[in-house]
Amino acid sequence: MKINDQEMLNIVEHMIDNPYMGVIYVNAKCEILVVNETFAEILSVKTDALLGKHINEIIPDSRLPHTIKTGETNLCELCIVNNQKLISMRVPIYNNGKIVGAMSKTLFLDISTARNMMELIEPDNQSAPISSNKFFGKYCLDDIIGNNAKLCRAKSLSLQVANNNSNVLIIGESGTGKELFAHAIHNAGQRKDYPFVRINCTCIPENLLESELFGYEEGAFTGARKGGKKGKFELADRGTIFLDEIGEMPLNMQTKLLSFLQEKEFEPVGANYTIQSNARVIAATNTDLEKAVAEGRFREDLYYRLNVVSLMLPPLRDRIDDISLLTEFLIKKLNRQLLTNIEGIDIEALKLLEKYSWPGNIRELENLLERAINLALLECEKRIIPTHFPTLQNNKIESKTTLSLNEAVENLEYQLIMKTLRSNNNNKTVTARMLDIHPSVLYRKLKKYNLA
Ligand SMILES: Nc1ncnc2c1ncn2[C@@H]1O[C@H](COP(=O)(O)OP(=O)(O)OP(=O)(O)O)[C@@H](O)[C@H]1O
Ligand SMILES: [Mg+2]
Repeated sequence: MKINDQEMLNIVEHMIDNPYMGVIYVNAKCEILVVNETFAEILSVKTDALLGKHINEIIPDSRLPHTIKTGETNLCELCIVNNQKLISMRVPIYNNGKIVGAMSKTLFLDISTARNMMELIEPDNQSAPISSNKFFGKYCLDDIIGNNAKLCRAKSLSLQVANNNSNVLIIGESGTGKELFAHAIHNAGQRKDYPFVRINCTCIPENLLESELFGYEEGAFTGARKGGKKGKFELADRGTIFLDEIGEMPLNMQTKLLSFLQEKEFEPVGANYTIQSNARVIAATNTDLEKAVAEGRFREDLYYRLNVVSLMLPPLRDRIDDISLLTEFLIKKLNRQLLTNIEGIDIEALKLLEKYSWPGNIRELENLLERAINLALLECEKRIIPTHFPTLQNNKIESKTTLSLNEAVENLEYQLIMKTLRSNNNNKTVTARMLDIHPSVLYRKLKKYNLA
């Protein structure tokens, strides 16, 4: 049976117009030419508003431009679009041997379907990378905004070391982009197709940390899962393990980590055999590790092992030249997240940002801009003006009658936490003690203010 062009067109149209998969097609200039309702729904934007836009204006992390540039095909990747995890494929479209566009199509619209699928394929595999987005590097070097010389040096060093296996220590105050850099180093090298596994050394109780990192054997302790459990080092084999807040790692774990770094193998808890892993270690700290070494809280030999490549991230107050670029980028990012349409920031408001000392760095800037956008919306303003930064306008807080009691209390709480964190070199345990709250309460508050 033969079908004519019109019938073919109808079929293609119906295939695209399909509630079970999101489809997006861009031309060689990366402009969106086709997007189906399903994808538009994921983005929470009407299809008409998407057509003709550059893909990165809508999805900043989209790698479709990379596909256009390089012809790279990726048949299964995890993407975070509008805060939703999708599994999709990305392919170039050729015409007469030339790339004329690229298409991305979702394979699974939700992670649980993917997880079920993995279980069907490999019922015993608990480490299926697909089971969580934390097993993929989320950011690339291009996502790190800024032209400041120190930042550019950190970016070029990241690129240089991406393909070697040296341990990397990222040092920077809270909110300077340590996590962003760790992902980007992973994604800039050949390890990008393997897992990126992150572990925050302060978030896991000391007694569980060993089994989280190195896994355990069945029956290793009461409550141990049947069949045992793989640890992060094994999951990160051939990929990267990101040890965040390494300065807080207990001494006994430091010893086991050092042994892994020397031997590239380890023993799971309760096991009498060793497992090898070719995971590359990237560690991050916002505390002064040399001081911790001097005080006997951190092993000197481990410090030198980790510090083979050290990446110092400048605090925002040392890169005020980037404030305007970062602000522009963050307003666009927040507009997408909050589904708002703020057009920009007035010069006077920008000057306020440039005068501030930024103890919480880029995370604080992001947080302040989010609050400013919300205030602008309340006042039906299209642009951010100085009064949208009540905390930066010294002495004006009290006179601002529109601030509710709740907002005023939150502002004060936020400033106090920031100040105390800063005076303690971002050490959260000491900060919690000084503020006389439990560390878990501090973590909750940091999360609330987007500081963790
Ligand atoms: N150069 C940058 N360009 C764009 N966004 C950035 C940049 N640096 C940081 N950010 C953003 O700022 C926020 C904080 O960054 P990140 O989580 O990497 O900081 P961190 O150094 O790990 O902080 P902490 O020590 O508190 O964990 C994130 O939302 C991140 O996307
Ligand atoms: Mg971090």
